[in-house]
Amino acid sequence: MSEQLSEHLTVVTHPLVQHKLTIMRDKDTSTASFRQLLREISQLLAYEVTREMAMTTKRIETPLCEMDAPALAGRKLALVSILRAGNGLLDGILELIPSARVGFVGLYRDEETLQPVQYYCKLPQDLGDRLVIAVDPMLATGNSSAAAVDLLKAAGARNIRFLCLLAAPEGVARMKEAHPDVPIVTAALDERLNEKGYIVPGLGDAGDRMFGTR
Ligand code: URA
Repeated sequence: MSEQLSEHLTVVTHPLVQHKLTIMRDKDTSTASFRQLLREISQLLAYEVTREMAMTTKRIETPLCEMDAPALAGRKLALVSILRAGNGLLDGILELIPSARVGFVGLYRDEETLQPVQYYCKLPQDLGDRLVIAVDPMLATGNSSAAAVDLLKAAGARNIRFLCLLAAPEGVARMKEAHPDVPIVTAALDERLNEKGYIVPGLGDAGDRMFGTR
């Protein structure tokens, strides 16, 4: 179950996703539970974000007869984790799609310019032939997400989707302006950002909550 809020934004409204997200938002949820729930939700969100993957048929033989059975076409998928919180979405999706290639993009925010600066980038070589799913649990200002997608496009990616757990309206608008060709899939569109750039009501710092740091 999902709601297409615009051509650009899909919110996965499935009851299991919403229930798990509520537990994750609760400040008393433990690090272990948070991490486990993120893994579970990532698989439910993956179902939505991969729904338009190219298909073909494959001739197989069941115990009863031959058939042309559906199968994924072409070079399939690349997942790109935006460090560090993106890693929390990665493992669950890889369990579903073990053959996916995996890339990593690391960005930090320059204290003076407030602009994202790249400190790490390792991507699969054939991004142009794959559906590329960039993953980051929190789409907040959208600045680092837009910069990460810039890197993916510079590396040849042409078919990109952005998967997050929570999105702020500001981040969705920023991504739409910078990358109108990149659909976003999320579990919730929250109210706003606060003055520190946190999503409200949100769930706090996703990296800290999944890794137990502060
Ligand atoms: N990053 C987070 O981890 N949480 C927010 O609320 C915003 C950005």
